[in-house]
Amino acid sequence: MQTLSTIKALRQTLATHRHQGDKIALVPTMGNLHSGHTALVELARRHADIVVATIFVNPLQFGAGEDLDAYPRTLAEDQSKLEAAGCHLLFTPSNALLYPNGLEAHTRVIVPEVSQGLCGASRPGHFEGVATVVTMLFNLVQPDIACFGEKDYQQLAVIRKMTADFHLPIDIIGAPTVRNDDGLALSSRNGYLDDAQRAKAPALYRTLCRARDALENGMRSNDVLHEALENLVAAHFKPDYLELRRADDLGPVTDTTQNAMLLAAAHLGTTRLIDNIPVLLPKN
Ligand code: PAJ
Repeated sequence: MQTLSTIKALRQTLATHRHQGDKIALVPTMGNLHSGHTALVELARRHADIVVATIFVNPLQFGAGEDLDAYPRTLAEDQSKLEAAGCHLLFTPSNALLYPNGLEAHTRVIVPEVSQGLCGASRPGHFEGVATVVTMLFNLVQPDIACFGEKDYQQLAVIRKMTADFHLPIDIIGAPTVRNDDGLALSSRNGYLDDAQRAKAPALYRTLCRARDALENGMRSNDVLHEALENLVAAHFKPDYLELRRADDLGPVTDTTQNAMLLAAAHLGTTRLIDNIPVLLPKN
């Protein structure tokens, strides 16, 4: 695997592959990789000839008081994991390369509607930061496909809409959430949990599973969501949101919606965890 950190080297290397007719896949990450990330690389390999991963802790998507400085940076370990997963090229741009005039002066991409609410409500500007950096990475790599995890379901929906709205010729592929044996979704932020919090953390997914079962059995969503919130509080979480939305565009569920998503964000101490689960609502 080659690691490149300049735009010129990236473009030259990719031009050669494109000239050979290679299909190119992109897997954007912020590093500190776990098996959720490497599963994306393995998925990308199955769909393309060349897999390009990126590691960039994007300052534009972190709010004031969030963990930008504390975000774990583990490049050497990440390189070994990517190589073992079959990644061909790693792009590691610096802040100065992607934002040469600073964050304030940089052009931004706003994706309306789907960025509102859920994580967008408690993290103002977050999805603008994500959409902006992913647009830059799409332009730099010009991939045929790009892989994103369903764990960050709203992010995936934002990127799908942005790609469609800009008529970008890129297939966006969503990958199922990779979990620990106890159900906790893998996340770089799990590393912030102390032992006691780590023991409590699987209650988030357990609560979502129980709520999904109740909804699929036809129980009223208001009652189910109310009880699930109580369960989270009893499990020592401070819930940020717990919502049932349409699966395709995260719009409000109506009487005719069948494919829905139950999405949650909750704090354990100072660590904010998110998770989601698909729900097949019964026909009325
Ligand atoms: P990061 O949190 O590093 O995640 C990179 C990719 O891995 C995202 O597509 C995310 O959804 C996916 N991922 C994370 N945990 C996963 C899990 N347990 N199972 C499956 N996939 C998982 O998401 C970002 O970085 C950034 O916002 C980025 C898209 C790179 C833009 O800066």
